Amino acid sequence: MRATGFFYALMELLQRCVAVLNKNRRGNFTIPSPRLYPFQWNWDSGFIAMGHLHDKPSLALTELEALFNGQWENGFLPHIVFYHEENYKTYFPSADYWNAKVNAPNPLKTSGITQPPVHGYVLEALFNAGVDKNRLTSLFKKVLRYHNYLYKNREFNNSGLVAIWHNWESGMDNSPWWDAVFDTIRDEDLENIALNRKDVLEVEESSLTRPKNIDYKKYLYLINLLKKQHYLSISSDYPFQIIDPVFNAILIRSNRSLINLGKKLGINTTFIEQKQAIGLNHFNEYLFDDLSNLYFPYNIKQGKQIKIECSGSYLPVFAGIPDKSKVIEMMDKQINQPDTMMFPSCAPYEPGFEKKNYWRGPVWINMNWMIWKGLLDYGLYHKAELLKTQTIDLVKKYGIFEYFPPFKNSDDTKGLGGADFSWTAALIIDMIKN
Ligand code: DGY
Repeated sequence: MRATGFFYALMELLQRCVAVLNKNRRGNFTIPSPRLYPFQWNWDSGFIAMGHLHDKPSLALTELEALFNGQWENGFLPHIVFYHEENYKTYFPSADYWNAKVNAPNPLKTSGITQPPVHGYVLEALFNAGVDKNRLTSLFKKVLRYHNYLYKNREFNNSGLVAIWHNWESGMDNSPWWDAVFDTIRDEDLENIALNRKDVLEVEESSLTRPKNIDYKKYLYLINLLKKQHYLSISSDYPFQIIDPVFNAILIRSNRSLINLGKKLGINTTFIEQKQAIGLNHFNEYLFDDLSNLYFPYNIKQGKQIKIECSGSYLPVFAGIPDKSKVIEMMDKQINQPDTMMFPSCAPYEPGFEKKNYWRGPVWINMNWMIWKGLLDYGLYHKAELLKTQTIDLVKKYGIFEYFPPFKNSDDTKGLGGADFSWTAALIIDMIKN
């Protein structure tokens, strides 16, 4: 009886997830969440494609093709593609605020910063699902150009590791990881920055759950500096220059997929193979901390790691980077927390932790999903299953939201941030179908 009830509950959740993806589709792409994010977002679309993979693999290709319509001439892939001009006024900063022109597509408008490169990984999954080879090959070449852009424009000191230039490029927008960098921006630099935020109108308890206005001003300050250089370069005193373990682990995981696929499609990937080898040699040197057995971002300007425990501290598991014995230790630390769900975006014992605030504490399904995929690759099936079950239960209990309460005993009855969140739906579909 119990097993049957469990099965029906799972099937019901699956149907609700499929319905969210259908509802959020806008022709050939999917918005991350109604109203809050009304355009196409970069890494969101990678995760969304994983949701289509099982039943509608051709739609997964369509999703990525729409995203890569926004690719720039230099290979750069923007974090937002502004389809549907009629929505421009409903999101801030708008397409006109970004004003990306040099190298950017026209008339389609885009932002001028990027997001973690998950698409190579997704392409390999699509290949294995047997999608149309011509469409896949054409996308493969675009993803390869994007990775080439990253190494040619963002590589730090021949380390095979690439820098991000904005907190939004990490995808973990207001993580405590970035606090010290933002502390270096002076109040007088923010005097002329006007805000016209829409996000705070769209979610409940926005003062607790979204970044603060002072934070947003700093995000825009960085955008204004980048805009002056047409988003193509930074000056040496530019404040935000970070080697993020999440961005780089995802890049390395996607490289591996591209290298595998290149062999199958007969396309040369020598450049990426060389960079991959160099990056793997330097990853632990810059980003691993022996004492805590965790990964941290490296602040290029200060020449040191930012030692705060976040979910990203575990994400290199996705790319197979730590030794298996280290992974087991890392996972046991998380599994044995009596009060906390796996993997809070910031550990509750860190001073920057806030239980409802976006990337400062809540659990995000994409992080759990990537770590789960990594555990499967290590053959750590029991730990993978625990993580999968806990992640599905979270969505069953709180709904298909953007992020989730990090404590096992929480007063919250619903998830946090945007409702009907596409990547939550897509990745839960992938977990259930596996
Ligand atoms: C937002 O709009 O909050 C995104 O995370 C940044 O693109």
